Amino acid sequence: GKETGAPTIETGVISIAHRGAPFFAPEHTIPSYEIAAGLGADYIELDLQMTKDGVLVSIHDKTVGRTTGGQGEVASYTLKELKRLDAGHSFAGRERKRYAHVKIPTLEEVLERFGDSVNYYIEIKNPADNPGMEKALIDALKKFQLLHKKDKNGLPKVIIQSFSPSSLKSVQRMEPGLPLIRLFNEKDFASLTDDAIKELQTYASGVGLPYRSVTKKEIDRLHSYGLDVHVYTINDKKTMEQYIDYGVDGIFTDHIDQLLEILHMR
Ligand code: G3P
Ligand code: CA
Repeated sequence: GKETGAPTIETGVISIAHRGAPFFAPEHTIPSYEIAAGLGADYIELDLQMTKDGVLVSIHDKTVGRTTGGQGEVASYTLKELKRLDAGHSFAGRERKRYAHVKIPTLEEVLERFGDSVNYYIEIKNPADNPGMEKALIDALKKFQLLHKKDKNGLPKVIIQSFSPSSLKSVQRMEPGLPLIRLFNEKDFASLTDDAIKELQTYASGVGLPYRSVTKKEIDRLHSYGLDVHVYTINDKKTMEQYIDYGVDGIFTDHIDQLLEILHMR
């Protein structure tokens, strides 16, 4: 928040390509991020999990089943084993043949592919189960010289998000001054007190909320504390328009093409 020195993300509604462009290519794969970046998303969204041998990889679920047809937890696989899985297994889009046998990417592979040509909105998933995720993430961002950089529009190159406040605080301790977004599910957001918001201001630039639990009044309340409000995951244009009018600062969407069409017309 503004009062504590946590960085504020620039104004204007930021477009966040949730899982890349998952209707065009398998979610959380390099082709999915390529399409989202090519369409002009402000951010590509990555969900990080950690392998048994300590490598950060981009996959949403804790387990590999839904997206790859494999079995068990990501954390039970070495990177080499994980690379044998097919991240295109469950993709049902038009170009499914083209993306058959695409691999789960490591964080470093994504950073290597895109460098500073895109902005990254990175989620630390299940940090309590995988100690060391924060350090590994910071180290990778340092290696690719992406920390504390802005794009030509003044947007931070990297935003870090998590449902875990302790993980975000750990990032803040290691690398002060990064924009951090605290995610909430509906239940936790519903019980958020003013005191809890004040505590949140000590480390977060804003919040990421399920859009259905957000009213215009709530957005105004969070803004009055200097917090940015990003909402997930809106997949139709009418609802996108509605939340832009409410004053949200960012929208996560699986349909980045649709959100960009709206934003370009405004
Ligand atoms: O990161 C925002 C939103 O993606 C949180 O939900 O489950 O899609 O990662 P999830
Ligand atoms: Ca996410």
